[in-house]
Amino acid sequence: MKIAVFEVEEWERPVFERVDSGHEIKFTSDKLTLANADEFSDAEVLSTFIYSTLNSAILSKFTKLKLIATRSTGFDHVDAVYCKEHGIMVANVPTYGENTVAEHVFALILSISHNMVESIERTRKGDFSLQGLKGFDIRGKTLGVFGTGHIGRCVIEIAKGFRMDVLAFDLYPNLEYAADLGFRYGTVEEVLSKSDIITLHLPANAATHNFLSAPQFEMMKKGVVIINTGRGTLIDIHALLHAIAGGKVAAVGLDVLPEEPVIREEAELLRSITQKLPLETLLADHILLRLRNVIITPHSAFYTKEAVERILYTTVDNIKSFIMGNPQNIVIGK
Ligand code: NAI
Repeated sequence: MKIAVFEVEEWERPVFERVDSGHEIKFTSDKLTLANADEFSDAEVLSTFIYSTLNSAILSKFTKLKLIATRSTGFDHVDAVYCKEHGIMVANVPTYGENTVAEHVFALILSISHNMVESIERTRKGDFSLQGLKGFDIRGKTLGVFGTGHIGRCVIEIAKGFRMDVLAFDLYPNLEYAADLGFRYGTVEEVLSKSDIITLHLPANAATHNFLSAPQFEMMKKGVVIINTGRGTLIDIHALLHAIAGGKVAAVGLDVLPEEPVIREEAELLRSITQKLPLETLLADHILLRLRNVIITPHSAFYTKEAVERILYTTVDNIKSFIMGNPQNIVIGK
């Protein structure tokens, strides 16, 4: 089979050789875009990370395509309708990093509660003053968790270690697990109105688009902290800015932003003009980047040595099992 692997680092290439010999594998460190698609258009299997947007314009270049093995849990960067219509299967990596992302959630929470960024910036300059650095305990605070799947559950386990109270919401509550761990499910309204810290672990789809918007911020406690490691589209960024400006939201920790692929690369900025991307959203992202009570990481929640290795080995297994006629971890085109 012809396999094309995008967004790949040098050290990752030998792992793909575990796909048995007799297959032709092409590697590139670049994202898959319209500009380079023709070079790889005879591929039957594609493997990308999340920065390749696999829309119909790009996928239509690949007339022999049978499998997309995304090296991520989320698959919202793939046009599901196109894949279903054209018999293309999509395999993901379902569980590589629930602890990894959950640990990052607490890195964000503790950075906020202990004013870590400002504290470290000060001492590096030889300034040991405490003025304005008073933080808050998380013990005894209520953590609101939206989405109690792999990552959300791991977040709850860690929260219980910090002796936080946890309120959660999920379309499919796991009551047995809640009883075991000592947390409670509530309605969306209850979780929003009773939580001191809110963290999002929902997939990005039409139902969760702008999951937190003006009416939801309205229901929250004054001084709430918002954490998002899910996807940028889960939060209406303009409503968030209003909630920060009005003092409803005290602090924010984000690993994801709307229009993130554009904001992360300068070269992409011009594309926002030619493709008429919403400039207000880009501007809102830039405002967030400058606020002292907002901390942003570059979609690095998953990025540890152990998680990256798990991603790679599962992806190779996804490709191997597909070739052997026994596809696994299929999320589109089952
Ligand atoms: P999961 O599929 O195990 O859990 C998602 C949960 O959300 C499920 O329990 C599901 O029932 C619930 N859910 C779905 N739609 C809902 C709705 N409309 N209302 C309420 N609940 C709903 O997913 P997992 O592994 O926990 O990951 C969650 C998300 O985190 C992924 O979709 C991905 O976008 C993001 N992620 C971010 C990473 C990062 O590096 N920042 C790394 C890995 C995942």
